[in-house]
Formats: sequence, structure tokens, C-alpha cells
Amino acid sequence: MPHLQSLTVMNALSVPIREDVPPGEGEEARGLADLHAGKIRKDFEQQPEPRHARRGFHGKSNGIVRATVRIAADLAPSFGRGVFVPGAVYPAWVRFSNGAFAVKPDGKRDVHGLAIKLLGVPDEPRAAQFERHSQDFILIDAPALMIGNVKQALAFDSAMVRGLAAIIPHLVSNLRELWWILRMTSAPRQLFEREYNSVVPFALGADETVRYVVRPAPGQTLREAPKAADNLRASLRAQLEQGDFVLELCLQPRGNSNLPIEDARVPWNTAVHRVATITLHAEGFGTAEQEQLGDRMSFNPWNALEVHRPLGGLNRARRVVYRMVYELRSRLNGQEPFEPRAPEQSRQQ
Ligand code: HEM
Repeated sequence: MPHLQSLTVMNALSVPIREDVPPGEGEEARGLADLHAGKIRKDFEQQPEPRHARRGFHGKSNGIVRATVRIAADLAPSFGRGVFVPGAVYPAWVRFSNGAFAVKPDGKRDVHGLAIKLLGVPDEPRAAQFERHSQDFILIDAPALMIGNVKQALAFDSAMVRGLAAIIPHLVSNLRELWWILRMTSAPRQLFEREYNSVVPFALGADETVRYVVRPAPGQTLREAPKAADNLRASLRAQLEQGDFVLELCLQPRGNSNLPIEDARVPWNTAVHRVATITLHAEGFGTAEQEQLGDRMSFNPWNALEVHRPLGGLNRARRVVYRMVYELRSRLNGQEPFEPRAPEQSRQQ
């Protein structure tokens, strides 16, 4: 393809980890940021007092939960990069969300988000200079997206923001997107019916590319809540009332396959390896104080160590979009952007 800007690194298996930056992508990313900023501002201005600016997507919180992330003591040496130090323990926050901008009843089909923020991450080179001691992992309960690159994201999001009169013709002329939206959205009774996937890739050092996967650790009973406006939050509460609930954080390496870096529409079919457990704690769950803290946080794939650098066009666009909308919603809410701190850094080797 002409005019592609290629960034190529060879991995240990001699398969190139190559990012192809198409011409015009930077402008499209800024277009996306302006689109979401405009939507947040308009929604804010139309609210009655007291007004509150919310996230540009994933507006509904199904709960912000304290967690402890423990890296496997017997981690395979090939995964031992960045935060993945065998036996390391990190305090963390996990936010569960519904994908839509608007807050709707859980019975409406949607995609569901799971965002993890590791705290107390050592002072090592970072992918971007936003937060200083966090490592975020952001996943949804689908193996791929309906759009693959920034151009497609801009076309889709522009139609969404213009409303039904624009999104229906857009989907009619992009039937593959419609088909995938129908497959990826659901109205579950609890948050763990489906596996969560980052759907876009990340570096693991200089020689591997991975997607992240999160799923419940085996052997636990999953709690449901009857269908209601907020049944996902109710199911999470019921789950935590049983005691700590444990998830597994996994890596899905691209290895020597030719799976694309630049197309988020393609599910990866490579093996998934557990590298850590995420223990969710009931402490503080559902309190106004904890919810407000979650609301103020920014989960951003670029809150990452350089060895876990976000890859591919959608991630490059998120670098522009997430920070811009975070600064906007903080400003509208009269808050300073802030970075949650670890009570103490408890990294053990
Ligand atoms: C160019 C593509 C994308 C755009 C424009 C976009 C846009 C946004 C925006 C504006 C937010 C709100 C950020 C904030 O206010 O702090 C957000 C949050 C989120 N996005 Fe994306 N996103 C994109 C790609 C993705 C992808 C590939 C995933 C897959 C995992 C994803 C999953 C999420 C999740 C789970 C959240 C909520 C995080 C939280 O709990 O704070 N997004 N996105």
C-alpha cells in the first residue's frame, strides 16, 4: 500500500510486529476526539442542575471494585516483561460498565466493559506521560469489534452521534457491522456470561504482541440477579456478598501467526495463558464515596509501561481521544484530573 508509515520490529520468531499508519489517520483521530467532546459538552449543557459530565462511552457504572492482582509465581519466562514479574502483588481498581454513552436499563442489549487499573507500578519508561504509576487493561465482553480501523470508527461514531436517522442508513450500507453488533451485544443476567477481550493488541516487550483476556477463575459459583434496570450491579453485589471473587488475567500471544495488528474486526484464535489472578473485594462496594472515585478516574490504554505499548490504529486514536475527553469532563465537573495512588506499593519478587 502506498504512503503507509510502517513501524517494524522483528520478534524472536522473525514475524514482524508492524504498525501501518495510513495517511490521514491523525486527522481522523482528532475528528473522533472532537466528536466525543462535542457530544459530552452538548449533553452537559442540556442537563438540569446539578449537571454532571460523564464518560464519552461506557457511561453507566455497574460498580467500581477494589482488587488485588497477583502475578503467577510460576510465570513462563517468555511472559516476564513489565508488570508481569513472578509473584508481584498490586493493589488495583476494577470498573464494570455498559458501553453506551447514555445510562440505560441493563435489559437493553449492549457491550460490557471491564477496566483494570494496577497501582504502584514501578517507575519505568512509560508509553505516554499521563499517569505515572498505573498500568491499565481495558476489555469488553466480545472477541472483536464491528469496526477495524480509525476511518471506520469515525464513520460509525459520526452516524451514532447524529442519531437514528443517520445510524440506520449507515448500518444498512455496512451490513457486516450490523451483523457483528448483533453478535457482540447482549443483555446478560450477570457480568461474567462472556469472556472479556482487549480486542486490540499490545506489545509484550520488543518481541511479542498480545491481546488481554479476563475470565472468572474456575470453581466459583456465579450469582445472577433477576432482570431489572440495574440487575448487573445487583448481581455483582450478590457475588461479592459471597466473599472475594477471583478473575484470571490472561495473555493471548499472536506468536508466529499472521493475525492483524491493524484490524480489530478479526477475533484471535491463538492460545490463552493465565498470567495473574484478580481478586475482587467487597470492601466499599456501592458506597457513594467509592462510586465518585470511580467516576473521577481515567482508564486509558496509554496508562501503560512502554513494554506494554498499545498497538494498532484504534489504540493510536485512543491516545488522543481518551485524554481529551477526560480533561474535558474533569473541567466541566470542576475537578482536577487525578491519579489514584496505591495505599502502599507491595511488590514482592
Ligand atoms: C477509536 C476507537 C475508540 C474510541 C473513539 C473510544 C472512545 C471511548 C471514550 C470517549 C471513552 C470514555 C473515556 C473517558 O471518559 O474516560 C471510552 C471508554 C471505554 N472504552 Fe473506548 N473507544 C475506542 C476503542 C475502544 C476499544 C478497542 C475498546 C476495547 C476494549 C474500548 C473499550 C472501552 C471501555 C471498556 C471503556 C470504559 C473504561 C472505563 O471504565 O473508564 N474502547 N472509549
